[in-house]
This record gives sequence, structure tokens and C-alpha cells, in this order.
Amino acid sequence: MAHQWRGVLAEYRDHLPFSDTDALLSLGEGGTPLVPAPALSSAVGADVHIKVEGQNPTGSFKDRGMASAMSKALNDGASTVVCASTGNTSASAAAYAATAGLTCVVLLPQGKIAAGKLAQAVVHGAKLVQVEGNFDDCLEIARKLHAEHPVELVNSVNPHRLQGQKTAAFEVCDALGRAPDIHILPVGNAGNISAYWMGYQEYRDAGVTAQLPAMWGFQAERAAPFVAGRPIPDPETVATAIRIGAPASWNLAVAARDDSGGLIDAVSDEQILDAQKRLAADVGIFVEPASAAGVAGLLQQAGHGRVPEDATITVTVTGNGLKDIDTALSQHDLTPTVIEADIAAAAQAMGL
Ligand code: F0G
Repeated sequence: MAHQWRGVLAEYRDHLPFSDTDALLSLGEGGTPLVPAPALSSAVGADVHIKVEGQNPTGSFKDRGMASAMSKALNDGASTVVCASTGNTSASAAAYAATAGLTCVVLLPQGKIAAGKLAQAVVHGAKLVQVEGNFDDCLEIARKLHAEHPVELVNSVNPHRLQGQKTAAFEVCDALGRAPDIHILPVGNAGNISAYWMGYQEYRDAGVTAQLPAMWGFQAERAAPFVAGRPIPDPETVATAIRIGAPASWNLAVAARDDSGGLIDAVSDEQILDAQKRLAADVGIFVEPASAAGVAGLLQQAGHGRVPEDATITVTVTGNGLKDIDTALSQHDLTPTVIEADIAAAAQAMGL
């Protein structure tokens, strides 16, 4: 019988902090494709592969860490979980709380969540609380709720989130048969870059791989605290998923950048939207704006002559484009070609 992917916790159990008696939740997360991107490879003169995290059950990489954090919460006897979110964490938390039978409360910056993500939290039965503030305000409230009430926090400050998310680095190595030379990804709250770096180090330390990649992270220009070297009070970007000014995993991300000999730089909203278009039109992968920040960064660094020739480069695209069609469609002329139901009219419309 063909092997059925069992989700990241079962597939990578040996590398995760669960005991034999722990219940492991799964919605089939992980096992996402690593897709060669010839159009990008020829544009930057390297061997570029895209890790397509939008193919996870709720359409983003968050499902890896949520499977892990929600399993831990369930095994610990929690009844309610809470998270702050720019949209994807809440979608994922809502889905995994549903399968775990737990109550889920999500704190969202009012008016700054893509419609698809809001819909996900609603249909999975989470209690939505919209906060008149940004993500950083929401996270502060979530942390305090956790400290003062019997609710489990499932943001990436919960170490079990990073445990699950590090499995993406394992998958990249398993697919390539080695670690890449450079791994690129968007940076918001900075959990993911920290988790990948942990995963790459653990595989190297276990002797599965011989080397470590340089970690390259990219933030949106007006929401780039790592580039500024300090928190940003009023982050702003079209890429709402990474509209974050005070990343929680600050020290871990700085260590990932510096210990790997990598970098964290900024890209403009225009570069992000351009990269989103190129991914869709030239590679065939539709991602949400934040997810295109890594590709935008790769193109930017290539423009500066900083991409080593023939390097093996993996770029994580973190979330599915279908989550935020409003932003994607706003970049296109939507004037439809309307014809009568007639072959001749169709042929004429096609220029035949
Ligand atoms: N890409 C997408 C699509 C995201 O949703 C996020 C974070 C990131 C990148 C950045 O990852 O925070 O680990 O550095 N979204 C969080 C959320 C904040 O609430 O969904 P990070």
C-alpha cells in the first residue's frame, strides 16, 4: 500500500519532545512539496527551490507548530487555548482546537486580517475578538491572559510551536539529500526563522546532514524591526501577515542570522507584490503577499550581486494565495471580456 503521510509529529517523532503515551494530533500537516523554480534559478544564477507551505491543511506553515502545541495542550489537560494573530495562526489554532475538542479564542488586529483567514477562524468555531490595535498589542494581551487565567497560549512563544515548525527544515534536507547553501524566508514574529535554524542544527548534530545553510530573512520595509535594530511602534505593510513591530523571538532570530552567517533585510511593498506576481505567473505558485517577501528578497540580493553562483537555495513561501484574493486582484485589471454564447464570438475574442 502506498505510504500515507501521517503528519509531522508522527513522521518526525524521534526528533520531537513527545512521550510514547502522548496523543498526537494531525490534520495531515507537513510533507509539503519542494518545487524547483527554473524561472527564478535563471533570474538569479543559482539553483532555486520553493518550499510550498501553502499546501498545509489550513494553507500555511503554522499547522506544523500548531499540531505540536495543540497536542501538548491536550496532553496537559487544557480546555481553552488563546492566540494573537495576523490571521494564519488563528486559522490554524481554530482548526487544531476543533480536532482536539478544545475551546479557542483568537485576538486579531481589527480590520487588518485578510478575509480568507477570518473566514477560517469563523468556520472552525473559534471565538473571535477584534482588538483596536496591532498584532503586538494582541500578543501582549494574549500573554497576560495566559499568565492570569487557565488558558494555554499557542503563539510561537510557546516552545512547542517551534518544535513542530522545525520539521520543515528536516523535510527540505530529506528532499534535497543535503542542507541548502542558503535558506530564505519572510520574517514577522520571527518564530519560523528560529525554528528552521533549530531544525537545520539538529539534523547536522544528528549526522543526517553535513552542513548548515545561511539563513536569509526578509521583512517588509515599514515593518522591519530587525533592520532598524529596535521595535517599530506603528508597523505598516500590504503584507498584513508580517505587519509586526515587536517580534517575540527576537534573540533566537538574531542568533539564527548571525550564527548562520546570514542576513535579515527589508523589501518594499512594491517588491513584495512584484514577487507575488512573478511566483504566480512565472513559477505557477500563488502565495499571499507576506509569503512573497522571501522571493522579493532573493531578487533584491541578486540585483546587488550577493547571490553566490550555482548555490542551492530554498525559499519558503509560507501561505496560500487564496487567503487574500483582495490584495492579489487589486494588482490586476479585472475588466472582463463578455461575449454572447457563440463560437464565432469566442474565436474572435481569442484573436483566432
Ligand atoms: N508568512 C506568513 C504567511 C505568516 O502568516 C507569518 C506570520 C509569517 C510569514 C512570519 O512568520 O512570524 O514566524 O516570523 N504570521 C503570524 C500569524 C504572525 O499570526 O499568523 P514568523
